[in-house]
Amino acid sequence: MNDTVERYTKTAIILHWLVALMIIVMLALGLWMHELPKDAPKTAVFDLFNWGIYTVTLPEPVSVRTFYFNLHKSIGMTVLVIILIRVIWRLTHAAPAFPATMKAWEMKLADWGHKGLYVLMLVLPLSGFIMSIYSKWGIMWFGIPVVKGLDNPQLRDFFKEVHEISAWLIILLIVLHVIAAVKHKVVDKDDVMKRMSLHG
Ligand code: HEM
Repeated sequence: MNDTVERYTKTAIILHWLVALMIIVMLALGLWMHELPKDAPKTAVFDLFNWGIYTVTLPEPVSVRTFYFNLHKSIGMTVLVIILIRVIWRLTHAAPAFPATMKAWEMKLADWGHKGLYVLMLVLPLSGFIMSIYSKWGIMWFGIPVVKGLDNPQLRDFFKEVHEISAWLIILLIVLHVIAAVKHKVVDKDDVMKRMSLHG
């Protein structure tokens, strides 16, 4: 461990904010698409989120639920690859030491919080990936077939449960993580926020 590093590198900062943004987008998409109707008529043309900005035309009609589930799986697999890069990067590069002003218990709590976030960052997309393999639909990446579904309802339901629980756990940890970051800035007035910023 190199304790003399005082801030995160550009690569670590870009990976942090890119993954944070993609996970938040995926959480919103996952919770939103879950409510979509199962019996809506099929169509081949989708105005993305009805925003009037981008229209997708598919080779064949699908239900609105299938369309957004496929989008979730496609972005999710992309996020998974970026998360794997991030985890490998972190395992091979030391993080800067915590500010000396932090108490020992605060450092321990922050360390466990970060470890928890890394575990959930892996468990969440991996459980979605495995659930989808055990579904009858399989997985496509932006229209390109990746794996055929094995259609095993028991295993699918198990990994669906893991996916949902890990989604709620990561929401909880993200909220605590943001509260801690704001506390560093507003209460402790230290450099913790600055060292995860490109313009620090
Ligand atoms: C960081 C990445 C991901 C996040 C944050 C995420 C988040 C979520 C959330 C919040 C839900 C709704 C859970 C609920 O209803 O309570 C969901 C559902 C789902 N996710 Fe993901 N997901 C991710 C990656 C993936 C991947 C990689 C796949 C598959 C390749 C996937 C497949 C699914 C499927 C199929 C559902 C719907 C389950 C159902 O209702 O039948 N997810 N996801």
